[in-house]
Parts: sequence; structure tokens; C-alpha cells
Amino acid sequence: MTVLQSDDVTIRSAAQALAAGHLVAFPTETVYGLGADGLNPAATQRIFAVKGRPADHPVILHVGSVQAARALAAHWPPMADQLANAFWPGPLTLILKRAACVPDSVTGGQDTVGLRMPSHPVAMQLLKAFAQVGSGVIAAPSANRFGAVSPTRAADVAASIGDRLAANDLILDGGDCDVGVESTIVDLSAGRARLLRPGGISRDAIERVLGARLGDSDSDAPRVSGALESHYAPRAKTVLCASAELLNQLRQSQSDPAYASAGIAALVMDAELIRTLTARQDVICMPIASDPQAYAHDLYARLNDADRQAVGLLLIESPPQLPAWEAVNDRLKRACAAT
Ligand code: TXA
Ligand code: MG
Repeated sequence: MTVLQSDDVTIRSAAQALAAGHLVAFPTETVYGLGADGLNPAATQRIFAVKGRPADHPVILHVGSVQAARALAAHWPPMADQLANAFWPGPLTLILKRAACVPDSVTGGQDTVGLRMPSHPVAMQLLKAFAQVGSGVIAAPSANRFGAVSPTRAADVAASIGDRLAANDLILDGGDCDVGVESTIVDLSAGRARLLRPGGISRDAIERVLGARLGDSDSDAPRVSGALESHYAPRAKTVLCASAELLNQLRQSQSDPAYASAGIAALVMDAELIRTLTARQDVICMPIASDPQAYAHDLYARLNDADRQAVGLLLIESPPQLPAWEAVNDRLKRACAAT
């Protein structure tokens, strides 16, 4: 595996690597993806092996144009046009009935396919270059081990799966991801719009474009691995607590023999808590911004930092329960469910 700084030349060689059936981890505006030629079953199967992901979990296909997306769907409803026009390129994934050309390895054997046109300049250039030398369709889940925290920096990709990549696989380094949490997933495969995963585009923005409320995922909705209860989880035991409770919780945890030798970290946004905890030697204070976009941008980087520092317990100050925080609160809930 080689890590390359993204430029015109390395992006072209990454496109060649995809065409040859190798894996390329690349930046998108949400998180880094682990890419393979989406129309090559053997290449896409390697994604599952590297991630340790169960074979029946579908992966998203990334495309460089709406036209390319339409070719992968059996049916392209008016709502798909409305949403693609409003939010592509960008952090929105649409679930539609699959076209026959989409391999089973991509869909997990389901009759639907997830499609997204990313807006990160490196992702867009890679898709364009790959359309010249190959299928132009990149299957890519987040570039982390299954169940672990998604990477928003190339170094986090290398730390999570670097040792599982083969000699000819690549990591394209394109800097930090802007959005920081994964795309919003909207299922249109059943004739109505349902939100399967909150993400980079808010529920509210989608409802405004559709002029209708989004349904929620229910038992017959297509499976979403990001909807597993414990997902996006750091190795440390992770506990959410209200601002006013955090110091209490810290005191209790410090007297718990389970954490006697493990480091304790706190991810906090309240200015007073940041001041108090930064001054203390017995806890690693991780300050994070208190507006939802900036928080989302940094969240996975801080969780990956905690993993790297082998923290044993991570206390997280709960963000507000407001619509603007829906994606962040969803990821925090899942990070905490694991332990
Ligand atoms: O922002 C993102 O979406 C990132 C970047 C790399 O594009 N990708 C990402 O992929 O988060 P992944 O595999 O970690 O999560 C994609 C989710 C999974 O939960 C998967 O189950 C769901 O999309 N998905 C993909 N295809 C699907 C389908 N046909 N039906 C239902 N869910 C699908
Ligand atoms: Mg993922």
C-alpha cells in the first residue's frame, strides 16, 4: 500500500489502479471512502475482506454525473431528479431499484442500489479520470474496519486498514474532509421518501425540496449497516453525559477500579468545562466546537485521536437535542451503544 498526495498525476494513476482491480482509498466531502471498480465483482469483494464487513451489507456506488447514476437504477423517479438537482454533487445518497448491470456484491443481494455523486474535488477528478480508463463507477464504503470510527484524515485510514491493504492498493491523501459525518441516505425505492440515515444534508433541507415530510426507516426498509445499533464506535468505553453531570461522572469513573490504569478523556464544548478540564492533569481534555457543522467536522478526528492514545474511557458532553444536531446525535448514540 502506498499513500500519495493528491495531484493530477497521482489521481490518474489511482484511476489506473481502480481499472486494474486494486483498491483506492480517497477523500470525499463526508469521510474517506475505500474505493473499488463498482462494476467489477472481484474488486468489490476485496472491500469486504479489507473492512471485515459482512457480505450482505450493501455499499454505495459513487458516480461523476446524474446521467451515470441513472444508468445504475432500474427506475429514476421524479423525486430522484428533485433531490439530485438540489444536492448533487454533495453528501446525499439515494436508494433506488438497481439496474441489471449492478453486481450482487455491491447490493448485498438486495434489489436496490445506493447512489451518490460526491463534491470533493479529488473524488470528482478521480471519478472523471476513472470514466476515461474504466467503468467510472466507484463502490466505496467508509475506509475503516467494520463497526469502527470512520476516517476523516488519510492518517486515520492508514491506522484503521493500512495493514490490510495489498501492495498495489493506494491511499490518496486529500486533506481533512469538510463535512465530517457520512452522507444522508434517502430511500426512494418504495415510491415514497424515507430517511435511512441522517447525515451531511439536513432532514429539513430535503423536506423543503420535496415539499413533503420524510418517513423514517421501518422494518421493511432496505438494510443500512450504519443503522446497526453499535457502529461508528471507538475502542474506548464511550459515555454521553449532560454538561452539568460531567464532572460528577468523571469523579465516579476515577474511583472505579476498571479505569485505574486506563486513561480517561473528555470531549467537551462548554467553555467553562474546557477551562476546568484543561487545567487538570488526571484527564485528557478534548475541546470541540459548539456549532453543529464545526462539531461534525471534528467529531471522528477526535474519536480516532482517542483510539490512537489508547484511552480507556471517553466521556462526551451531550450536544443539544435539536434538528441541526440530528446527524451528530445519531453517531454519538451509536458510538456509545457499543460498550
Ligand atoms: O458519506 C458516505 O456515505 C460515505 C462516503 C465514502 O461516500 N460512505 C459511507 O459508506 O458511509 P458506508 O458503507 O460506510 O455506509 C453506507 C450505508 C451503509 O449503511 C449501507 O448499508 C447503505 O449505505 N447502503 C448502501 N447501499 C444500500 C442499498 N442498496 N440499500 C440500503 N442501504 C444501502
Ligand atoms: Mg461506514
